Amino acid sequence: MKLFNVYELFDIELVKAQGSYVWDKNGTRYLDLYGGHAVISIGHTHPHYVEKINEQLGKIAFYSNSIQIPVQQELASKLGALSGYPDYALFLTNSGAESNENALKLASFYNKRKKVIALKGAFHGRTEGAVVITDNPKIVAPINETENVIFIPFDDEIALEKHLSTGEICAVIAEGIQGVGGVFMPSVSFWQTARQLCDKYDTVLIADEVQSGYSRTGKFFAHQWAGIQADIITTAKGMGNGFPIGGVLISPKFKSTYGMLGTTFGGNHLACAAAVAVLDVIEKENLIANAGEVGEYWIKELRKIGAVREVRGKGLMIGVALEIPCKGVRNSLVKDYQIFTGSSADPNTIRLLPALNVGKAEIDFFNTKLDECLEKEWNR
Ligand SMILES: Cc1ncc(COP(=O)(O)O)c(C=O)c1O
Repeated sequence: MKLFNVYELFDIELVKAQGSYVWDKNGTRYLDLYGGHAVISIGHTHPHYVEKINEQLGKIAFYSNSIQIPVQQELASKLGALSGYPDYALFLTNSGAESNENALKLASFYNKRKKVIALKGAFHGRTEGAVVITDNPKIVAPINETENVIFIPFDDEIALEKHLSTGEICAVIAEGIQGVGGVFMPSVSFWQTARQLCDKYDTVLIADEVQSGYSRTGKFFAHQWAGIQADIITTAKGMGNGFPIGGVLISPKFKSTYGMLGTTFGGNHLACAAAVAVLDVIEKENLIANAGEVGEYWIKELRKIGAVREVRGKGLMIGVALEIPCKGVRNSLVKDYQIFTGSSADPNTIRLLPALNVGKAEIDFFNTKLDECLEKEWNR
């Protein structure tokens, strides 16, 4: 059997990883500033992470959600304390799309409505509910199509109020920072207006922190820069540092009933052990502060590079908009300089999503090589 061919791949096979570095089968070392798409939060093969997973694997790896799994509560307590949402409840999933799917269901169970407001440029995943609130018609199949989603222009508070005032809107969903869309952060004013209007019209405010959350921006969740609380927050990517796990943080105003939500794999012993290890390291190594400080320094330095048109983002979620399309530059960064970076929907924007413990040395190295690479590509 062949693999279903849906990914455009680099011709590289990685066999080893440590911290912010990965090695291919020929022994070539690469600097990983992409983190496997914002997934590597505490660095590859962190010793505490490896130890915790191994320890759990030697005891019990999986059992379904029909028995007591105390490591789930350990995870929920640690996540509540570190994220500033101690009074919220946690529902565990396996991915970002599944987290958003369950967030939408909860919102709709709560106010019995069907319509959702999402933002232009949004990406929320590829499953039924998540894909229709994603602003990319190419990945919406005919079976997914619905009239229940309204895309408003990014940051448009007037459009938001116009639609919310109908009283028909179930939920407003926004990414803490739009990632796939090209690294755009909603303004403080937008989040605050959304909070106030959602309260007024009994609409549920959902923050999709699948990519921007888990300490990446210098706060646990990016929407916390606006000083508001969302009703539901969704997570995944950095939560398991590569072990598949997602979560839905749920305000106390939502009441649970048996069978309302469910999953076979979500919350299994091994995934929870991985996620607990991630939070241990984020706390012990002060990674929230590191992401904030290193990110601020990086953004400042990137702005000094001549062929860079604009630098967007916060902390270690950075979009570098070039004067030229970034495809050739990213390929050259991999091939000639052994550096992985990410792309986005904007053809000129490179996305930087490194591990949260990346250091200034790696960043200075990247900036020098980017400058060199841009000079070469510019004159091509
Ligand atoms: C903001 C956001 N939400 C949801 C998702 C979907 O996550 P997953 O691929 O784990 O389903 C992604 C993935 O890139 C994302 O960036």
